[in-house]
Amino acid sequence: MDEVVELGRAQGERGEVLLRRRGPEQGGVEELVVNGAFAMDSTETHSERELGRLAGGAPHVLVGGLGLGYTVAAVLDEADRLDADVRVDVVELEPALVVWASEARTRTLARAASDPRVRLHVGDVAGVLDVDGRQTQGSPGPHGPWDAVLLDVDNGPDFLIHAANHALYAEAGLRASYARLAPGGLLAVWCQAPSPPLLAALRNLHPSAAETLLEVRREGRTFTYAIETVRRPPA
Ligand SMILES: C[S@@+](CC[C@H](N)C(=O)[O-])C[C@H]1O[C@@H](n2cnc3c(N)ncnc32)[C@H](O)[C@@H]1O
Repeated sequence: MDEVVELGRAQGERGEVLLRRRGPEQGGVEELVVNGAFAMDSTETHSERELGRLAGGAPHVLVGGLGLGYTVAAVLDEADRLDADVRVDVVELEPALVVWASEARTRTLARAASDPRVRLHVGDVAGVLDVDGRQTQGSPGPHGPWDAVLLDVDNGPDFLIHAANHALYAEAGLRASYARLAPGGLLAVWCQAPSPPLLAALRNLHPSAAETLLEVRREGRTFTYAIETVRRPPA
């Protein structure tokens, strides 16, 4: 039986946030639980990294939320690979997670907090994207437009971590996020399973909407995750 080490536990406004590691410090599995829902672990991070890779070295990227920091790391890796300048705004709802990142409680969280190209913001990405008109004038931001908006705040539209996040996947919310894209910009949404309604809603925004399926092996089972995307036409 693996040793379980608690790396952080906080009672947030919306429930408990728990960060823990199973197994040894090097090579163990980090796990994040938010509001009683398993948010992710580091057993297999291919799909979270693929979401970041899709930013494709774009200059200004918004990532919502931070999680364990794998998507952010992939945005940086892809910019490095392409020798591209990048600024990454990360919006995370749970203040504790941002503190734990600044305290380097895991290696990938430490990277997100210490890379000078990354700004960590505590907030609701739905507010930042103004998905339901909640943004007030003069809000602290961050502010777009962004060349890529990468959303992984739930386990997808069918398994929300917070009920209020549903606004992000509704037609009006998607339209608001799309409107925050710079010309040629990409909106990408991580989903724990293909989501035909989400894909259809994105297609209503622009025919470039597409679905990338990602097969992931976990604990002897194969899961098909999906990333739904839409790209704004260049100016
Ligand atoms: C599944 S994890 C993200 C995993 C991340 N892609 C990674 O690579 O580690 C979801 C994160 O989104 C955050 N979150 C949930 N709702 C949010 C919202 N409305 N705005 C910002 N962050 C949110 C959660 O607290 C959690 O940290």
